[in-house]
Amino acid sequence: MRILIVNGPNLNLLGRREPHIYGARSFESYLDELRETFPDTELTYFQSNSEGELIDRLHAAAYGAETDKADAVALNAGAYTHYSVALADAIAAIAPLRVVEVHISNVNAREEFRRRSVIAPVCAGTIAGFGLDSYRLAIEALSR
Ligand code: DQA
Repeated sequence: MRILIVNGPNLNLLGRREPHIYGARSFESYLDELRETFPDTELTYFQSNSEGELIDRLHAAAYGAETDKADAVALNAGAYTHYSVALADAIAAIAPLRVVEVHISNVNAREEFRRRSVIAPVCAGTIAGFGLDSYRLAIEALSR
């Protein structure tokens, strides 16, 4: 099985960005651990700060070249979660490819605007609030 992990804006700065909220570990180092945890799953990773690039990558996961295709997607859309109708449309457009919405922080325990997700209705489910472990839980769910 091939699972694509997609990280959106500012998540390239994990480990340096607001470590009291997002932790002190880089995603690259965590990805090595994830690959060890799921030796039978091919984990591919994409990060972009640009909405259009995220949409292009999601399209490619469903309709692109064989090397870009995925069986499922774990998506942390960062702040786009809260307002990108274009990203929500892209997730709907790649159905039945399953996308799990991931957040490191507990978005429901933070500012009011983070409680709204425009992508949640088109995702298979949401995992939030478990730090980087949220990604492992998403992959666990998608593997079943
Ligand atoms: C986030 C939560 C978002 O509200 C925020 O904009 C992010 C990260 C998280 O993983 O907790 O960039 O998606």
